[in-house]
Amino acid sequence: MLNLMEDESTDINLGRDSIKAIIMDTFGAGTESISVTMNWVMAELIRNPQVMKKLQEQIRSIAGSRSLIQEEDLTEMEYLKAVIKEALRLHPPGPLLVPRELIQDTTIKGYHIPCGALVQVNVWAIGRDPKIWDNPDDFRPERFLGSQVDYKGQDFELIPFGAGRRVCPGIGFAMPIVELAIANLLFKFDLSIEDSGKEEEMNMEEVFGLTMSKKTRLYAVATPHYAHA
Ligand code: HEM
Repeated sequence: MLNLMEDESTDINLGRDSIKAIIMDTFGAGTESISVTMNWVMAELIRNPQVMKKLQEQIRSIAGSRSLIQEEDLTEMEYLKAVIKEALRLHPPGPLLVPRELIQDTTIKGYHIPCGALVQVNVWAIGRDPKIWDNPDDFRPERFLGSQVDYKGQDFELIPFGAGRRVCPGIGFAMPIVELAIANLLFKFDLSIEDSGKEEEMNMEEVFGLTMSKKTRLYAVATPHYAHA
């Protein structure tokens, strides 16, 4: 960006203030969103031990005798991607995306929405809509296996990153990070809670803020998986 600022041959007009704003924006949008997503994925895996086991079997069979999962291994990890999609469906870190303001009068399904109105998209409700999803409150990654539905903004039933012009520009950066971290964590450790056997009673309440995080802390116990640790 500094090079661009100094480059007089382009007509991109980038000042120091813009550079600072872009960096702030990227840090702000790219840190908590990832940690919140990872926290929800871990909580759902602990609450659904059969899903965790199936995921670990896949990860461990793909990794074989290697000591670390690498980015190139991720393409094969179909179940891992389904697990993360399912966590983002139930717990979108940005449940109402970013507010929009209408720039012209619009009518949608008979509802008149005047120019200047603030519009929020309830991604949380879309992700749990029984008209779209079977047993929407269940954590069932299998629903995404063999399905074309993706979170890149083309399938409006799953838009945890938004859609259209203001879609999250960090998807391609965020997802490999989340996938790689979860894959390596589960490759090396079994996750559980201290109160083993009480997984179903785990508190999965959400708290609404800039991002939608878990209301209570997740105290996860990570036990090394000695075959690989
Ligand atoms: C799992 C992780 C993430 C999720 C769920 C997520 C989700 C979102 C959502 C919902 C929006 C608003 C989109 C809209 O209103 O249509 C957004 C915007 C944005 N995201 Fe992400 N994001 C994630 C990670 C990241 C990362 C890692 C970066 C950067 C490195 C990033 C950078 C941004 C920026 C800069 C915007 C604002 C774009 C604009 O001003 O139009 N995000 N993100």
